[in-house]
Amino acid sequence: MKDRIRERIEEITSVIPRCKVFADVGCDHGYAAEKALKSGRCEKAVVSDVSEKCLMKARSLLSDYIAKGRAIAVLSDGFKNLPPCDVALIAGMGGEEIAKIISDAAKDGYVLPETLVLQPMKNADKVRALLAEIGYRLEKDYLFYVGEKYYFLIKAVRGADVLSDEEREFGRTNVNELPPDFIRYVKEELSKFAPISAQCGETGCGREKIDDKIKRLKKYVDS
Ligand SMILES: C[S@@+](CC[C@H](N)C(=O)[O-])C[C@H]1O[C@@H](n2cnc3c(N)ncnc32)[C@H](O)[C@@H]1O
Repeated sequence: MKDRIRERIEEITSVIPRCKVFADVGCDHGYAAEKALKSGRCEKAVVSDVSEKCLMKARSLLSDYIAKGRAIAVLSDGFKNLPPCDVALIAGMGGEEIAKIISDAAKDGYVLPETLVLQPMKNADKVRALLAEIGYRLEKDYLFYVGEKYYFLIKAVRGADVLSDEEREFGRTNVNELPPDFIRYVKEELSKFAPISAQCGETGCGREKIDDKIKRLKKYVDS
């Protein structure tokens, strides 16, 4: 496993609570399930993927756990063919795809798990909005930096929640606790947006939107 993947998977699995059944939806290689099993975070793991080719990798990685009945591999579009689980991870997909998988499951009557751990590659705001809408509370929601990239990580548990605009856009833990990775991210975003705004001149090319974003970002480095 490459360092970048290993470090990302380690950060993700660090927020997985101890549970009976852990499901990794869109598992690909299956590294997160392997880590969850090895570290004793789950008694059983369900690895699932919509692609048979991807699922084969997880099947091979977890063959010993599968033989011992501690893991199963399921070909599935989202939660469609999954047994009930206590904790589910959906990582490495876009926020819109993640939100669709969760809302499709809710519409199909699948009983969603107590805890969802989500690592959207983009559009994290859409994931947060959906979670609050369907009755999940954001317990942890922060950015981490690995291999020259920032990743949002959201841990949500069942319960009512109301999100502020800032929490929805940037993540609850980030805006309330200002962790160092978030501050660095804000500074990097500002250094990307400021020259674009300057190039736009007084009018045109959506300067208003860019300036609004800059204003929202500046709040965290000016305070
Ligand atoms: C980029 S990989 C991420 C793998 C792993 N979760 C990680 O974070 O390293 C995305 C995986 O999600 C799978 N996938 C995409 N849409 C899916 C869906 N609707 N249901 C299940 N798996 C899906 C893909 O086949 C692929 O293996």
